[in-house]
Amino acid sequence: MIPLANLKRQYQSLKTEIDAAIADTVAKQDFIHGAKVKAFTAAWLAALGAKHGTACANGTVAITLALKALGIKPGDEVITTAHTFFATAEAIFAAGAVPVFADIDPRTYNIDVASVTPSPHARAIIPVHLYGNAADMGAIMAFAAKHGLKVIEDTAQAHLGTWQGRMLGTIGDAGTFSFYPGKNLGAYGDAGFVAARAEAVGKAMAKFVNHGRESKYLHDAIGDNMRMDEIQAAVLSVKLSHLARWTARRQAVAATYDRRLKGFKTIEQHPGGSCVYHLYVVEVSNRDAVMEAMASASIGAGIHYPVPLHKQPALKDLPCAKTSLPVTERAAARVISLPICADITDDEAAQVCDTFLKIARP
Ligand SMILES: Cc1ncc(COP(=O)(O)O)c(C=O)c1O
Repeated sequence: MIPLANLKRQYQSLKTEIDAAIADTVAKQDFIHGAKVKAFTAAWLAALGAKHGTACANGTVAITLALKALGIKPGDEVITTAHTFFATAEAIFAAGAVPVFADIDPRTYNIDVASVTPSPHARAIIPVHLYGNAADMGAIMAFAAKHGLKVIEDTAQAHLGTWQGRMLGTIGDAGTFSFYPGKNLGAYGDAGFVAARAEAVGKAMAKFVNHGRESKYLHDAIGDNMRMDEIQAAVLSVKLSHLARWTARRQAVAATYDRRLKGFKTIEQHPGGSCVYHLYVVEVSNRDAVMEAMASASIGAGIHYPVPLHKQPALKDLPCAKTSLPVTERAAARVISLPICADITDDEAAQVCDTFLKIARP
């Protein structure tokens, strides 16, 4: 079996370090907002080159936290992409706002701001650096400045990706991260992070994540419980020390796939940005047949994402569903994700390409 991401193999390579970090947390019986969350927060901010941010429970609440801390209110519109995981839109609803979907650039699979005209209710834009590939932050920041929008980068899939030398997630007003187990930096459960450019926004997030308090029993805001726990922070700190190396390996595997799969449409990087290949995505015209062949060869291919958000049943009666997004719809019908992770071997990558090339049609 060649899984989409080989987390068992990753654990075997880190077992001593991870087991010791978890055992230490349990021995100290310090599970909530203790030294390990503090240490991971400092280490992740340093890795990002950012000053303000807070660890939180997952990548979905990270987006809601960012929206709330940036003053997005019920009735506001938030422009985003429909070619993403459902959480991006759920977080907008959780903040009381509504999404407005833009189309994507077929080269990068990321939001194309030229495809949307903001209404007077638009207050923010959430570009998603999908697949680990940088969205065009130059165009997005100019669009946001022109229309008075806050920018929240959904960086759930793009840890250590860059735009013109700066870390993704640090260019807009806020950047959100998911540490879901299968992500490039993954916890052993749910975990997330939200970074802020302004100190005041960072402070508001840190308060909101922990019941709106600064001291134990004094609450000067109505917040929530959205904290990261100490065991997740312990695991993440161990893994963070390997992330740069893992990212380079993902990029090397992607370069091999690019070489072997010439003639197929794959992820194109914007000249200003990098891709950290959370997923390696390639388009085919005969997806069902390819998925079947991959399954028969015990290769864990995936589809990210087969149903765009404006076509989701949960949103069908809402204004955001009544839009036509031809580039998104075409991509959703054609994309397939091939196994990629730091632990895939060269032989396995070759096997993936051989199986794919036998059946796939551009
Ligand atoms: C693009 C995107 N946004 C948001 C999320 C939500 O993150 P989480 O699962 O940690 O809540 C995910 C991942 O699951 C994602 O891929």
